[in-house]
Amino acid sequence: MTSKSSLTDTVLENKPGHPQTENGRVLVVKNVSKTYRTGTEALGSTNLTLEKGEFVTLVGPSGCGKSTLLRLIAGLITPTEGTIETHAFENKRGNIGFVFQDAHLLPWRTAQRNVELLLEVAGTPITERQRLARETLEQLGLQGFENAYPRELSGGMKMRVSLARTLVLRPELFLMDEPFAAVDEITRHTLNEDFLKLQRNYGFTTLFVTHSVSEAVFMSTRVIVMSRRPGLIIKEIPVPYGGERKPELRTSAEFAETCRIVSRFLLEGA
Ligand SMILES: Nc1ncnc2c1ncn2[C@@H]1O[C@H](COP(=O)(O)OP(=O)(O)OP(=O)(O)O)[C@@H](O)[C@H]1O
Ligand SMILES: [Mg+2]
Repeated sequence: MTSKSSLTDTVLENKPGHPQTENGRVLVVKNVSKTYRTGTEALGSTNLTLEKGEFVTLVGPSGCGKSTLLRLIAGLITPTEGTIETHAFENKRGNIGFVFQDAHLLPWRTAQRNVELLLEVAGTPITERQRLARETLEQLGLQGFENAYPRELSGGMKMRVSLARTLVLRPELFLMDEPFAAVDEITRHTLNEDFLKLQRNYGFTTLFVTHSVSEAVFMSTRVIVMSRRPGLIIKEIPVPYGGERKPELRTSAEFAETCRIVSRFLLEGA
């Protein structure tokens, strides 16, 4: 169990309805490639489909186009070739959430006011956004820290605020670009376990990027290995451990074996 054992219950009470999207598909990336204006071929022709509720992780050498692929899916940049479909989502407030390596909190706003920020932009009435932000901070184990400023929080807590700021929008799809790379290993493990609980309870779908093979295997239903730039998917490795991942999994022989397989393909792709 993690130190945030109350997390699941709190979240369950607030579980919203998430009807199946068409065919259960949340995202379809078809023959997508990206060459930047500078002429850099960042991503080779890529196909990827995400089913609702999956947790898929991209691993690959630095510069192979992982962040590029996430930015393409988020619509921050356009593909050179190919198409990206994100399927009709029920929730209008925020369909795709993007979480970066740095928490990117506004230093002059408290934790609570950082989480309210995007609701403010969306025009959510003040009492509603205050309630939603408070609830979401509580779900991330930050009750009592609503009025703390980012400088008064640890790195792990800042990342929790950053997650809360995205979760408060109830995204159907979470795009996460090395979100836990800047925290120590023990904090990262707790964040991993807590995030998986949130995913189970809310039923959202996650596309994750990490350089840590063990984090990829612990979190994912599938690990996708990419080759060096221009990145191509060279292997998809299903991870057979079911929904609930106990901390003990990290030290098991089967876990080490899956990590070994992922590492082998990573080496091949590099
Ligand atoms: N806006 C941009 N303009 C031009 N080239 C870019 C741009 N963004 C990224 N690139 C280049 O595209 C390639 C892929 O970059 P990207 O950031 O997607 O890699 P990555 O797999 O996320 O790497 P890392 O693991 O180091 O984060 C790199 O060679 C990078 O220099
Ligand atoms: Mg990157």
